Amino acid sequence: MTSRRPQDGDVQLEPPVARHADVVPAVEDRSYLIFILGALAMALLAGFLLSVVISLALSGTITWGEERLPQMTQAHGWAQVQGWAGLFVAGMALRLMPRFAGRPPIRTKVTVPIFVLLFAAAAGRVVAQSSPAGTAAEALLVVAGLAGAAGAAAVGAAVGYTLARGRKRPEPWRYFAWAGAAWWAVWAVLMLIAAFKGARNDVFVPARLDDAMAWTVMLGAVGNFVFSVQSRSVPVFFGRRLPSRRKLAPPGVLLNAGALLVLASGLPFDGPVSERLLGAGLALAGAGLAWLAPVAGSVWGEAKRLRPRARAAARYVLAANITVLMAGALLAWAGANSVVSGEFESFGARDAARHALGLGMITMLIIGMAQLVSPVFALERAEARPAGLEDHLAWWSLVAAIGLRVIAALAYAHIETGPRMHLAATAGVLAWLGLAMFAFSVVRAVRKEPRMKALLATAAGVSDSGR
Ligand code: HEM
Repeated sequence: MTSRRPQDGDVQLEPPVARHADVVPAVEDRSYLIFILGALAMALLAGFLLSVVISLALSGTITWGEERLPQMTQAHGWAQVQGWAGLFVAGMALRLMPRFAGRPPIRTKVTVPIFVLLFAAAAGRVVAQSSPAGTAAEALLVVAGLAGAAGAAAVGAAVGYTLARGRKRPEPWRYFAWAGAAWWAVWAVLMLIAAFKGARNDVFVPARLDDAMAWTVMLGAVGNFVFSVQSRSVPVFFGRRLPSRRKLAPPGVLLNAGALLVLASGLPFDGPVSERLLGAGLALAGAGLAWLAPVAGSVWGEAKRLRPRARAAARYVLAANITVLMAGALLAWAGANSVVSGEFESFGARDAARHALGLGMITMLIIGMAQLVSPVFALERAEARPAGLEDHLAWWSLVAAIGLRVIAALAYAHIETGPRMHLAATAGVLAWLGLAMFAFSVVRAVRKEPRMKALLATAAGVSDSGR
């Protein structure tokens, strides 16, 4: 057999160790990068920026946007949930699910249009809800809803197709991935409903629907993929065996049953029924999350299996799961209170849980897993040097941001809104800085990649000429 010499731009991949009909050759696929960069743009330019603006406006420190504060608060929530979490989770699901299922990568002619739809939807909603009301804002909200619905349905369909055609081993990640794909299809319908209702209501989506929708998405569409990916890798990083299907079935059922009840609470029931449904949903899902964090993820230990540089990334995963554990307990408590009273209870605990999940399960896990599994960080993962100053600064900024944001939420009804929202604004600034440092490391890794390929090509050339 003759072999061609490596050329510039080639991607040298490990030769397959097995030749078998089931072995899928690795193909370089970089479209996940646009999802990461798009998610970072949404977070830095919209979600975290608006978090500071609304906190300062709620405290009365600034008057900018005062009259549209309810809309801007929704704009912040969805920039984070749809833009930051949604884009990243979609990118990772489209990249990783085919690998897990032993299928060829999903083609860029599918993934890139999905990215465009999802990005346009998130950006459109934020612009519509943070600009002056009028027919243009209403039209933009509807267009964003249509784009988002198409994008979310396509994510559900692409992942579902991949799973249906892939290897059918009874591994737990598959069940979470199936559930995740189904929740993306549900999200598509919710996006349409929210867009049309919001357009008829001064670009403000009715609060009960919006709240039920945000929880449904965080628990169902995001939570399931988070635990699908974690259950297949994280315990191993921390030197434990992968959990079995039997072990993960009860918390997985709790999480999804909870998300279903939350979804049902958005239907037009009367007050107490709706509050009890939402409460029961949050309580069940909370119990599921608190159970999943130590079993499918990890809340203690050292990532001994990883190199020193990668261990710094593993502590993000640890912190993420510890906050999931905390958020789960808060949700179980807040939800149980509403089940008993039939009223909206424990705003502080719900807000703390929402932000523990948003900054922990979502932000910390994104940063940790991106560094641990995405190829663009492969060179840095392999470095022998431990984490540098910028890694430590980013880490401590984000840890402080979680602490302050959760305290600001739990202090609801105990201290006045002014100082409470100043704590939140400080958290927002710290989170923004931490994320900006992570964005910097992504850009640095993207720029370093050609050097990595050149090194690999040289190494391959040397071994070729030595044959
Ligand atoms: C440190 C960063 C953050 C700060 C300072 C912050 C601040 C806030 C504030 C002040 C509110 C309004 C709460 C109220 O009504 O009293 C809020 C709501 C919300 N936040 Fe955040 N947030 C941050 C990060 C996040 C993240 C990362 C996510 C999700 C990934 C998120 C999702 C939400 C949602 C869904 C709402 C509810 C929006 C609504 O009422 O429609 N936040 N946030």
